[in-house]
Parts: sequence; structure tokens; C-alpha cells
Amino acid sequence: MSDIAYVNGAYTPLVDARISILDRGFLFADGVYEVAAVIDGKLIDNEAHIARLERSLRELRLESPVSMTEIVEIERALVSRNGVQEGMVYLQVTRGAAERDFSFPKGVKATLVGFAQKKNILASPYAEKGVKVVTVPDLRWGRRDIKSVALLAQVLAKQAATEAGCQEAWMVDADGFVTEGSSSTAFIVTKSGAIVTRPNSEAILPGCTRRSVLALAAEAGLTLGERAFTVAEACEAAEAFLTSASNLVLPIVSIDGRALGGGAPGPHAKRLRALYLAFARATAT
Ligand code: PDD
Repeated sequence: MSDIAYVNGAYTPLVDARISILDRGFLFADGVYEVAAVIDGKLIDNEAHIARLERSLRELRLESPVSMTEIVEIERALVSRNGVQEGMVYLQVTRGAAERDFSFPKGVKATLVGFAQKKNILASPYAEKGVKVVTVPDLRWGRRDIKSVALLAQVLAKQAATEAGCQEAWMVDADGFVTEGSSSTAFIVTKSGAIVTRPNSEAILPGCTRRSVLALAAEAGLTLGERAFTVAEACEAAEAFLTSASNLVLPIVSIDGRALGGGAPGPHAKRLRALYLAFARATAT
């Protein structure tokens, strides 16, 4: 079966899916996106992803060409038409195609595209062996809370991780505090067992997985600390882990080559992964 994409109202084989080279997503990164996980053929935490998509659109004064209800129908169609049992569904809305001019074009309809990908999320080898992280300066703009398609700094960060034999890069602000991973939220667990992650602000993307994991941690009676932490504090922490739609919860076993918690996944990360997985399956739509 060939992969099926969605482009502006039509389902089409992915290889034939086309947008204009004048699309503002292509020329200016003038667009936003969302990624939701699929497990057992169902969407995970999708209400939160749709709410964040609506917020990203609003913040950029971008009008979706279809309603959020229709967007969810498109997500479901992509999952079923592509036979995805486990993986992710991707959606992108841009300010449409128009003659190249920086200001918003008038009377131009937004572009909406989507596709789905199969991926082993449950049986990730990194759940067992843990993720290695490098730190890099955070080179991004000032509105990281908007899930925009302007991802060049994250591309460079992830490439630095790959070249260092690592799987993720933690981006660090000018004051030495970790903002987040190139495509994930950053957490540490202190020696006294507190789960620490940076509070939501314009400095980070408000992670949907982050939100659910914090709620599950609170329900499990764990101590939470929403505050920024430095790389030095993270290196001295008992544990670290990351969260994202496409990776759920993954333990981190080293930062800049320094082993954490003896270099093996920590108990809190393992427990929170199991709790999140149970929650995800129970609430999947
Ligand atoms: N990335 N921070 C950044 C910079 C991200 O790109 C992501 C997600 C997250 C985690 O957010 P969530 O838990 O809602 O997925 C945090 C997605 C998965 C991606 O770009 O593929």
C-alpha cells in the first residue's frame, strides 16, 4: 500500500503530494504544525494537541482552512488509510501561496497538509538503554511557545547530537539554564526525588506529554518542581528523562558524556513511562 497524504482537501499518494514553491511555509516558515502519537490505531492525547494547534494558529493570526473537528477527521483518515497501528500523524497549516511579500497576503487561503508515519514507539530500544544527550546553545527566536515550522535551530541541535553519537540535544539559554530538547521536553529528578522541569513560558513549547506526565506524577504522590535548572545541576541529578508525543517518556543516561545515575535508566523515568503508557492507552481516541 502506498502512503497517503492529505493536501488541501484531497487524499493523494504521498509521492504525488504537491504544494506551490510560493507557499509561505516554504519561503518564510510562516506556518505551524502538530504531531500526535498513534497507538493501537488510536490518537494519543489528541485533545491537547488540537488545543495547542488552535493556540499556535491564533498567536500567528493564521486562519485554519477547516474546523478543528474536520482536522481530527483528517487525522483519523490518515491513520486508517495508511494502516497505522503505531506511529504518528503530522499536520501543518501555512499562510498559503502568494506572490513573495513579507506582509500577510490578502484573500489567500491557508494551506493544510498532513501525513502519517509508522514507528515503533512502545518497543523503543531507548526505553531500555536510555538516551544520550549533548548540550548546545539555544539559538531560537523569542516565541518558542508557538509550534512553528521554523525549526532550523532544532535541526542544527539534533545534528550536533547525532555527530556526538547522541540521540537528543538539550538547548541552553544565555543564563546557562536548559530550555528544552530539540524535539522534547527536558526533566531531571533531584537526589531527593523531586521531578523538575522548566515552567511553561515563551521560552519553551508547552509539551502535551509534559502536561500529562506532570499530572500523573502528582497523582502518584511524587514531588514536583516547575523551575529552570542548569546543565551543572542536571549532571549532578539522580535521573533525567525526556517527554514527547513521538517518544512518550524516555530515560536519559548521559549528558555531555557524563553518566547519570550509574549510566542506566532510573526508576522514576521507568515508572513515569509505564504510567504515561497506561494513561495514553486508556484515553486514546
Ligand atoms: N516535538 N519541545 C519541542 C521543541 C518539541 O519539538 C516537542 C515535540 C516537545 C514535546 O512536545 P509534545 O510532548 O507535545 O510532543 C517539546 C515533536 C514530537 C516533533 O517535532 O516531532
